[in-house]
Amino acid sequence: MEVIILLGGPGAGKGTLAESLKDQTSYIHVSTGDILRVAVKAGTDVGLEAKVCMESGKLVSDEIILKIIKERIEQEPTDTKFMFDGFPRTIQQAEGLRELLEEINGTITHVLNLIADPQALIPRLCGRRTCKTCGAIFHVVNMPPKEEGVCDLDGGELYQRADDNEETVMKRLEVYKTQTAPLIDFYRNLGIIHDIAAGGTAEQTDTVALAALND
Ligand code: AP5
Repeated sequence: MEVIILLGGPGAGKGTLAESLKDQTSYIHVSTGDILRVAVKAGTDVGLEAKVCMESGKLVSDEIILKIIKERIEQEPTDTKFMFDGFPRTIQQAEGLRELLEEINGTITHVLNLIADPQALIPRLCGRRTCKTCGAIFHVVNMPPKEEGVCDLDGGELYQRADDNEETVMKRLEVYKTQTAPLIDFYRNLGIIHDIAAGGTAEQTDTVALAALND
């Protein structure tokens, strides 16, 4: 099993890049945020616990996240190539992933560290709109849909995420800085991190990320 990790603050463009890479590579996209939002909508036990954390911008427990990832990995053959988006998010999660991969002879080949000015992230997140049915990501200014409120891909209704308001975004940025940013050094020490400038257009980010993967 081969794994690549998309690392970066809220709104850095992980989901947008993942959608593009998915079409151009053979990686399976796994977003822990998306999995949790499905659980919240379904009202499962995990969803009920996650809802409170997500709406306040805090992280869901490492135990829940590692269980979700283990179950997801086990659903696919051992030669699968995974692209993790938003996971790991703490050193404990990174250690847990290392142990899971050791058990199945898996390896992390690349960590793409998306770097964008934190000031640019707030307007990106507050203007994000997501398709209720297919999950496609738009932005009211940067990447507007052809028809307001309607997904270009399947005509689904676009909605604004509950955690995409300025107050929660500020909290998410703080959580990123204290709990997730330490992973940059963690993976830099392993020599597998690639810094990707993510402050330009989404197409520019794609080009640099693809070049890093082919490095
Ligand atoms: P999650 O869903 O992972 O949110 P996040 O990490 O905060 O990241 P986002 O999805 O907000 O941003 P993104 O980087 O994907 O940006 P996007 O491409 O959409 O997690 C949500 C919550 O779930 C967490 O707060 C936590 O509670 C919980 N959670 C999830 N995983 C967890 C874990 N492992 N451990 C514990 N808790 C966990 O782009 C954003 C906007 O910008 C879009 O509108 C897009 O169109 C636009 N945009 C993208 N790229 C560009 C560009 N280059 N230029 C201009 N606009 C752009």
